[in-house]
Amino acid sequence: MSSSAVDFAQKNHPKFLNELKDFLRIPSISTLPEHKEDCRNAARILESELTRIGMQNGHLIETEGHPLVYADWLHAEGKPTVLVYGHYDVQPTDPIDEWLSPPFEPTERNGNLYARGAVDDKGQVWAQVKALESLLAGGKLPLNVRVLFEGEEEVGGEGIANYVASKPANLKADFALVSDTELFAPGLPTLCVGLRGMIYTEIEVRSAKSDLHSGMYGGAAPNPFVSLAQIIAKLKDENGRILIPGFYDDIIPPSPEELAAWKTLPFDEEEYRKSEVGSRKLVGEPGYSVIERTWARPTLDVHGMPGGFIGAGAKTVIPAKAQAKVSMRLVPGMVPAKSFALYKSYVEKIAPDGVDIDVRLIHSGDPCLIPVDNPYIQAATRALHEVWGKDTVFIRSGGSIPIVGDFDKHLGLPSVMMGFGLPDDQIHAPNEKFNLKNFELGIQSLIRFLEEAGA
Ligand code: BES
Ligand code: MN
Ligand code: MN
Repeated sequence: MSSSAVDFAQKNHPKFLNELKDFLRIPSISTLPEHKEDCRNAARILESELTRIGMQNGHLIETEGHPLVYADWLHAEGKPTVLVYGHYDVQPTDPIDEWLSPPFEPTERNGNLYARGAVDDKGQVWAQVKALESLLAGGKLPLNVRVLFEGEEEVGGEGIANYVASKPANLKADFALVSDTELFAPGLPTLCVGLRGMIYTEIEVRSAKSDLHSGMYGGAAPNPFVSLAQIIAKLKDENGRILIPGFYDDIIPPSPEELAAWKTLPFDEEEYRKSEVGSRKLVGEPGYSVIERTWARPTLDVHGMPGGFIGAGAKTVIPAKAQAKVSMRLVPGMVPAKSFALYKSYVEKIAPDGVDIDVRLIHSGDPCLIPVDNPYIQAATRALHEVWGKDTVFIRSGGSIPIVGDFDKHLGLPSVMMGFGLPDDQIHAPNEKFNLKNFELGIQSLIRFLEEAGA
């Protein structure tokens, strides 16, 4: 591989890794109000690092939530423009007791770097910045680059969505480079070409004017958790089929070619059950493989039911209200606003008599499917082959990155989703990690991709 930028990256790798550790020490948890300043600090570090390496116009873009980070370098006349995207916010760290080393004290163990955000997504954002630094060390970039990082991806990405929809002229580009996904298996170069969308909702049931003594009133007063349980039990049948009328109507199934390609991927359902999920059984719609269930079918999940008494011990109370956090992952063809309307009217219809109910949308994002017949995807597979010595596999992911659909809708950009996580990296869970080799080869892959895309 003859690239002076790759040489630069290899020589500077220990330094890059130390800088990443510093970046990971900032607890940029977007959902917790007490970490608002930390989020801003993470944004400032990105802004000043981008400026230090030679990117121009570096600035923060304020939103109603956490700021966006922008920078550009637009002097490669006649070359395409890439919009580089990632997110600097991270998920909360609970349950904290299960971390083997503290989440914001990045620690190396057996070839991995452990920390919250190590791979989702601060480590991958850092890989992008270090790829740009390595290229700029040669005095110029092989193509035009705009960088746009956000700090609210883990909470729905409203700020960036508003910005992209309202200021498309500031983001003119030919394609987007998104590094927030994973390899299908260790050592296997992967491009992600589809993501599920989502609607995240909250159902609130109110049943009485205040909390009530469960002995004095039990038997006569309605219980909001029981009402919620009855509602939830009617959302899905025993086979995992979602019972909301019309929910499946607009789904565009994967093509026969795509389904055939998925069958050739190295994947063992039994191994997945045992080592990744750790359950006695897998669930889901009969007739669909696990890959189809997680990439090409919608979901409905309950995340928590706030309310009532959850302390240690016992309290005999009938709560006056209860909530359930319910999300649905959507697949190509489904439209979040329509899915939410169908869900809301079904929940209102099945709600038990005599309780008040609110069905609220917290955030939503479109599903996406990326066309692969473009020169950027081809440039990516060439670069990946050079670095990893293998042909690229094309996968979808069951996760969501809300802004990717908007890059297509508002900016007309195809996205190249080139990420370097691994399926067992424990994202959103205790002991999140980034494989150190993947960090290193990730930087090299990004360098070679940008060189190929500008060639
Ligand atoms: N990076 C993930 C999405 C992802 C996970 C892509 C695994 C590919 C493989 C992203 O940070 C994420 O967690 N997104 C949230 C979005 C939601 C809060 C709108 C998700 O999928 O739950
Ligand atoms: Mn992510
Ligand atoms: Mn995430």
